[in-house]
Amino acid sequence: MRTEIITVNPDNINPVYIKTAAEKIKGGGLVAFPTETVYGLGADAFNTQAIAKIFETKKRPLEDPLIVHIAQKEKLHTLAINIPDIVARLTDTFWPGPLTLVLKKAENIPDILTAGLDTVAIRMPANKIALSFIEFCQTPIAAPSANLFGSPSPTCAQHVLDDLTGRIDLIIDGGKTEIGVESTVLDLTHNEPSILRPGGVSIERLNEVIKTVINSSSKNKVLSPGMYPRHYSPRARLILVELEGREQVEKVKNLALEFSHKGQHIGIMAKDENKNRYRPFNVKLLGPGDNLATCAANLFSILREFDRLGVSVIIAEGVKKEGLGLAIMDRLRKAAGE
Ligand code: TXA
Ligand code: MG
Repeated sequence: MRTEIITVNPDNINPVYIKTAAEKIKGGGLVAFPTETVYGLGADAFNTQAIAKIFETKKRPLEDPLIVHIAQKEKLHTLAINIPDIVARLTDTFWPGPLTLVLKKAENIPDILTAGLDTVAIRMPANKIALSFIEFCQTPIAAPSANLFGSPSPTCAQHVLDDLTGRIDLIIDGGKTEIGVESTVLDLTHNEPSILRPGGVSIERLNEVIKTVINSSSKNKVLSPGMYPRHYSPRARLILVELEGREQVEKVKNLALEFSHKGQHIGIMAKDENKNRYRPFNVKLLGPGDNLATCAANLFSILREFDRLGVSVIIAEGVKKEGLGLAIMDRLRKAAGE
């Protein structure tokens, strides 16, 4: 199969291109598209064969359920049942945007999409291209991140090509994604709303709307299918250094020296303020430690870049565990296989 690439300007969306992409979906094909978090690999949420192709193409285990993407808030009511009152406030505040809600699923949702669970994950993305694409498809779009299972999520079209070229029908290239980490997954099917995956909407912001968020994802256990401990991993071994300030720099330096003496090819992922601390090692800058949005946006592409350079050990500085920092640290811990 040849993978077609169409470039779309988010500020001037050419409907002809989006229509071409929607035709592929209607024909049961797979289309990668930009969202504000990461690129998704979309299929018609009601076409079981197309969904099966998503799992096969990504080499994703069938017990890992997919997120359904919609372009209008009201569509939620066609996909979920027993919707609690809190949902209206959450969607008023955070949709469109990087918040995925897990709810009791409606009868018509294919079992393969939810990995046999009686719940379904739903989100309305904020990216204009994504919204226009879903609208043209005239059906909800099931979409995991458009990477091979376990590898870092794609934040630009090239990342999708690197993983999936020749295996999917089309990529809509809408440039770099703004947020760079995936959506926050919030489970609303139990007494207390609980965060299954920290992401683009911070816990602090969620807590302004619902007071009872439990961050269960910090507990080191598999919470739902798909929350595997080792995930988002580059091919290189990743070592995360969680300390702060001078202690962190010392530890990173020591590890770099130790592993390079063992003949390893070292890459260091550092915050901007530490850029001159690790010469002569190969350093890539995540962003300023006090600008977590920039750090999140750069995270996955740096991991992929180190792989491209053939680095064998990545030593990563941790960031502050607040705001988007929780999502960044969650991905780094998983990349480290912790
Ligand atoms: O930002 C995002 O969420 C991106 C973009 C493309 O929308 N999508 C994404 O999908 O990250 P994926 O498949 O890579 O991650 C979805 C996560 C999985 O960890 C899965 O286990 C969880 O959502 N999930 C999906 N359905 C669920 C359900 N019914 N119950 C609990 N967790 C669920
Ligand atoms: Mg994923």
